[in-house]
Amino acid sequence: MTPNNVHISKHPLVRHKLSLLRDKTTEHKKFRELIRELAMLLGYEAMDDLLLSEITVGTPLGDAPGVALQEEVGLVPILRAGLGMVDGIHEMIPGAQVWHLGIYRDEETLRPVSYYNKLPVDPTVQVCLLLDPMLATGGSATAAIEVLKDWGVKRIKFVGLIAAPEGIEVVARAHPDVPIYLAAVDDHLNENGFIVPGLGDAGDRQFGTA
Ligand code: PRP
Repeated sequence: MTPNNVHISKHPLVRHKLSLLRDKTTEHKKFRELIRELAMLLGYEAMDDLLLSEITVGTPLGDAPGVALQEEVGLVPILRAGLGMVDGIHEMIPGAQVWHLGIYRDEETLRPVSYYNKLPVDPTVQVCLLLDPMLATGGSATAAIEVLKDWGVKRIKFVGLIAAPEGIEVVARAHPDVPIYLAAVDDHLNENGFIVPGLGDAGDRQFGTA
């Protein structure tokens, strides 16, 4: 059973765009556009509880009650595939900080290997959206969440596109406090750790490196 803190978008645009993304005939340019659009739609859903402070806004006709975002938000793509999810969300929330984490999955062991992390010593954000289109074994996401928790971030949300049930279980068990936002949960992982039916390798399909 899918844990309570896993949110699977039911939005028709998400479902439509995800189908185009999965299609093996979708070429790199279109694939990147779809990743960007899906990230915006899912990021929008993931940010629905950002804290606000009340302000007064002067309009041409007087004062109106308004709100301002209260929290510093960090967008944290896991390289490489998470990169394509940054720009669309960043446009919606231009004040967000972007912190990159380099983690790849060892092809033999399927264990995450960290190769890039330039986070400063003290946390500079209150909320992080961890971005990676694929949640397969869950190793990369679990490792990245540990890095962000060690950094001192209090609120972390994972925003992905497709997950395997096995990966969701791993992340939810290790980090039950981290909600997971997705477009779909697929059937299973194959013997190579690929999500089936999935969409293939999200990094290679974005960057033309297949
Ligand atoms: C893919 C994907 C995730 C990870 C998921 O990246 O983008 O980061 O694998 O697998 P996991 O849940 O089993 O850890 P990959 O390691 O292929 O690196 P890349 O994005 O640089 O191609």
